[in-house]
Amino acid sequence: MEIPRTSIHGEWSSRLAFILAATGSAVGLGNIWRFPYITGENGGGAFVIVYLVCVLAIGVPIMMAEIMLGRRGRQSPMNTMASLAHDEGRSKLWKGLGWWGVLGGFMILSFYSVVAGWTLAYVFRMGSGMFTNATADGVGSIFGQFVSDPERLLAWHTIFMVMTIIVVSRGVKSGLEKAVRYLMPMLFIMLIGMVFYAMNTGYFGNAISYLFEPDFSKLSAEVILTAMGQAFFSLSLGMGAIMIYGSYLPKQTSIGRTTFIVAGMDTLVAILSGLAIFPIVFAYGLQPEQSVGLVFKTLPIAFGQMPGGLLFGTLFFVLLSFAAWTSAISLLEPAVTWLVENHGMNRVMASAWSGLAAWLLGVVALLSLNIWSDHTLFGKNAFDLMEFATTNIMLPLGGLMIALFAGWMMRHESTMDELHIQDRLHLGYRLWQFLVRFIAPLAVLFIFLNVTGVLDWLANIL
Ligand code: PHE
Repeated sequence: MEIPRTSIHGEWSSRLAFILAATGSAVGLGNIWRFPYITGENGGGAFVIVYLVCVLAIGVPIMMAEIMLGRRGRQSPMNTMASLAHDEGRSKLWKGLGWWGVLGGFMILSFYSVVAGWTLAYVFRMGSGMFTNATADGVGSIFGQFVSDPERLLAWHTIFMVMTIIVVSRGVKSGLEKAVRYLMPMLFIMLIGMVFYAMNTGYFGNAISYLFEPDFSKLSAEVILTAMGQAFFSLSLGMGAIMIYGSYLPKQTSIGRTTFIVAGMDTLVAILSGLAIFPIVFAYGLQPEQSVGLVFKTLPIAFGQMPGGLLFGTLFFVLLSFAAWTSAISLLEPAVTWLVENHGMNRVMASAWSGLAAWLLGVVALLSLNIWSDHTLFGKNAFDLMEFATTNIMLPLGGLMIALFAGWMMRHESTMDELHIQDRLHLGYRLWQFLVRFIAPLAVLFIFLNVTGVLDWLANIL
């Protein structure tokens, strides 16, 4: 039996600290910016149901597996995978899973920082009264003009990336805990407030039916893939963020319970933001398909109308920026730990270099929204391409490999030890094993084969 490892990067001060950090990572633009807009693009109810099923059947077991691998390896994802593969007598190639994750994290951070820059910009735009009594058209065209101005986007993207680098360079554990402890509950309360406001628009019922009445004719292979990708993205799974946070988790903390709390809060925030945004969409006669601009084109209308909207709106975008910030730092952390471990860099240099790399890629994403918008591949600009490739392909593939490693490559003794299970017949343990061994990998595989048309082709020849 190997000696339990300790992390050279430190440990969370308590279980609560981990829950806050992991929730900070999970809750972000994925819930408030991305969930509503892709729900709108994919037709509502049926998409939401598939998403919820993916969270439960694929996301939760993989999150447990990812935290578990992290805590057992206690290093950057690359070194964790290398050590665990060694412990379990498996191929060295498993280290590649760490690399895959870090690459995905870079790509996500690059476009994530661009959008987080928008939320920063909207703090000042709300505060300046730009949206007071603005019409839906006015709010829409303000967003349109903003996104077509590369210099502004560049400035905000840069500011956000610098903010991210600063926190990561100081060690995610110091400032983060305090920020998340107060700001997350505030964001939550604001969202509930927005849902109440939305209830009075007269269109709340429409939003409920849009979000929860499934029209299964709207489901296609691509819609299902997008729902699964969103589950991975929103829960921060499949790229090592949760793995690295797990590596700072005290040994005695229960992974199962913690996972349910984090996944539950993440899902709740996504649903609440849907309930806040869609009534506004219908009340102002907008289309749900507003693509990446949806939050920025809807909520400011409401803030512009409501009493005290100037203050609430400003506060809302401040909190959303914080939520994005706590997610962004978890995207950078895996690469930084690796540079520290393997290249002897100090944290400050490691954060600066990896942040710079993601910033550069972000510039490409940002220019593809305006001056390079004509350059497309498969009908997508660079921004959409990065978003699609990471969320719908890289994260699910990373998650698939995590599930396979935890389910098939690790000995029962190892997983039972880490999950604090004494009895191999323990019901929860058996259920988890079944999910990571069969359900999660097969579901990911099935969805991939389905969207590439391989399933149809097989059905035809069989
Ligand atoms: N979960 C984050 C969000 O919803 C994004 C993220 C994805 C963070 C992957 C880390 C890893 O905003």
